[in-house]
Amino acid sequence: MKRIGVFTSGGDAPGMNACIRAVVRGAVYHGVEVYGIRRGYNGMITGDVYKMESHSVSNIVQRGGTILKSARSMEFLTKEGRQKAYDKLMELGIEGLVAIGGNGTFTGAQLFCSEFGIPAVGAPGTIDNDLYGTDYTIGFDTAVNTALDAIDRIRDTASSHDRIFFIEVMGRDSGYIAVQSGIAGGAELVMVPEVLTPISEVVETLRQGWSRSKSSSIIIVAEGDEAGGAVEVAARIKEEVDEDADIRVTTLGHTQRGGPPSAYDRILASRLGLGAVEGLIAGQRNVMAGIINNELVYTPFEDCIRLPKPINEDLMRMVKILSV
Ligand code: F6P
Repeated sequence: MKRIGVFTSGGDAPGMNACIRAVVRGAVYHGVEVYGIRRGYNGMITGDVYKMESHSVSNIVQRGGTILKSARSMEFLTKEGRQKAYDKLMELGIEGLVAIGGNGTFTGAQLFCSEFGIPAVGAPGTIDNDLYGTDYTIGFDTAVNTALDAIDRIRDTASSHDRIFFIEVMGRDSGYIAVQSGIAGGAELVMVPEVLTPISEVVETLRQGWSRSKSSSIIIVAEGDEAGGAVEVAARIKEEVDEDADIRVTTLGHTQRGGPPSAYDRILASRLGLGAVEGLIAGQRNVMAGIINNELVYTPFEDCIRLPKPINEDLMRMVKILSV
């Protein structure tokens, strides 16, 4: 393989730049030309690409976001869009791709290869940590630390005012950020999409706390919880407990997606970026590079897309025991 492309797609995640850097420098090290594709699959369709050299990725290891920009491409979902992308890649002589992103990114890459034969190797970049085939995804650790910083601050004011706070963290289909930031932040309860938490259990947890003279409580709600987001849950609790209960809601939203990556994410992204590009050069096809038990492994896109990554039940159990 003489020439490859690299792109970021889907929701951005802190550490994507460190990953791009590893891909580019890894390719240069192995004498392979590398082109940066801007705005994910959209850039592939429009030919928004540029040749990257070692210096193209100087001073980015510490930066959040992605210098290649990102998008969720609607056009690539169509056969015509993918045909245009293929034609552009052929014009440019790009023979393989490193795709940095999540589920949607790998679904696109898999389909693209089955139709047009352009192989890809993925690096998991999403704050959600919802990908089978790796213990952690790029950006997750930073997002947890960002959420934790907010939780710590909210705890100060919750305690001063004897309030109940519902804090909503990201995770449309995944409760990883909620569980980990909840444990680290000493939350009373964590509500995640993977586990059913009846409103009666939330009320019960609060009542138990009051019976032990707890004057403030923090409940972390993943945005995709079956009961709704933090606003909906807080409204239900007011109905159940007391319309005048001193309850506040904070939604952390996209603050969790930005900021400089943690040391952990920079190292993870570097390992996965290098693993992806070296895998592609060595002949790996349509697999995602991941780290499991500290070892680099390659898992077929098919499995990463199809198989669920269950929430760690020990951690969920721990939240309950430690909030007593
Ligand atoms: O997949 C990452 C993620 O941040 C989810 O946690 C969240 O639900 C979604 O992206 C938000 O997407 P957007 O930035 O398009 O609103």
